Amino acid sequence: MKDRIFYPLSSILLPMDLVKNKKLLMHVGPVDIYEEVLYAGLKNNVGFTSEEFVNAFQSSLKRVRYLFQADQTYQPFIIPGGGTSAMESVTSFLSRGDKVLVVTNGVFGDRWLNIFKKYPVEVDCLKADAGDYVGIESIREKVKQKHYKLITFTHVETSTGVRHPIKESVEEIRDYVDIIVVDGVSSVGAEEVKAKDWNVDIYLTASQKAIGAPPGLGLLVVSENAMKNLKGENIAGYYLDLNNWLPVMRGMEEGKSAYFSTLPVHTVFMLNEALKLVQDEGIENRIKRHEKVAGAIRAGIEGMGLNVVAKKPEAYSNTVTGVMLKKVKAQDVLAEIVKEGVELAPGVHPSLQGKYIRIGHMGWVTPNDAVVTISALERTLKRLGEDIKIGEGVKATQSYLS
Ligand SMILES: Cc1ncc(COP(=O)(O)O)c(C=O)c1O
Repeated sequence: MKDRIFYPLSSILLPMDLVKNKKLLMHVGPVDIYEEVLYAGLKNNVGFTSEEFVNAFQSSLKRVRYLFQADQTYQPFIIPGGGTSAMESVTSFLSRGDKVLVVTNGVFGDRWLNIFKKYPVEVDCLKADAGDYVGIESIREKVKQKHYKLITFTHVETSTGVRHPIKESVEEIRDYVDIIVVDGVSSVGAEEVKAKDWNVDIYLTASQKAIGAPPGLGLLVVSENAMKNLKGENIAGYYLDLNNWLPVMRGMEEGKSAYFSTLPVHTVFMLNEALKLVQDEGIENRIKRHEKVAGAIRAGIEGMGLNVVAKKPEAYSNTVTGVMLKKVKAQDVLAEIVKEGVELAPGVHPSLQGKYIRIGHMGWVTPNDAVVTISALERTLKRLGEDIKIGEGVKATQSYLS
């Protein structure tokens, strides 16, 4: 310890560096964090039995119900990890030999296949082409042919920005499948999500996306119907068996400390603050804000003469926009636009590799962020020699917002 020297920030970063490092993060997650959320994590470790921690966990659980629009009949879970741990914990509801149907519109839908491959279940799958979603008709046909214990959907497929019509799909299949699971990692907190009204059994998300908290936690709400299937004998491993986490959730919600495995205490404090801000804004207002920013970004992309990846307008999402490039390489655009002070994300769908980029617009995004992003993108693309109409993107975004 004696040898460690701490330099004040001002002595190592010159003012020019500070300007150079100023960046607008328009990523698909993690996203920018509001200052209050950051401050909530600025404290020393606390014991998991401390009143401070139990209070934060208790109110987070209650706020998770609001976030997913679930009522008291739903059991909330907050577990370490993120989207993938929440997804894998769904194996807690399955027994050996159960039949599962995966509806996948891209990379994160495919993740369910990769998870279930590791477990002794029988898996079928319905797949959409990049930019599209699996039609409701074919889902209905499939579940009528075979009885599935569980079906998975991805609300917004982050790899392409395609939104799946969850409410309409669930209405069609509710009577045929026991447990309906929706991955809302790129939707919850930014798209309309109504776990209770839509009759979804398990809705899940991660802390680092549209809620605007740091990465580290997976959040789920589970219906009474699904909880009946949370049996001691299941195929889950040890850490992600929700049977082990249930007493912690129940105890904490009653204001009593409980332990299964150590929770990331700082992340819980920050999550609690982020969920408070979501509640203060109001979920409907939050959805409208995301809708407006997403619309402004799409207007700009189309205005400059490019296409978005999502093929059907009803599948445009509030959180992610994939942008198809004509001549330039995705990696060059991403490297160049950072120099303009904006960070975007690469396209990751294997069938469109290198041909598109993604703009993330979730968390605390504002209309001004849309204008800045479109203007930086126009400058970048022009410089790289892309076939666009410079100025027309910003014009379209401005018109959309005016
Ligand atoms: C739709 C979707 N599902 C699951 C995940 C996995 O989440 P995590 O990276 O937190 O494990 C992601 C990550 O971006 C995602 O976008």
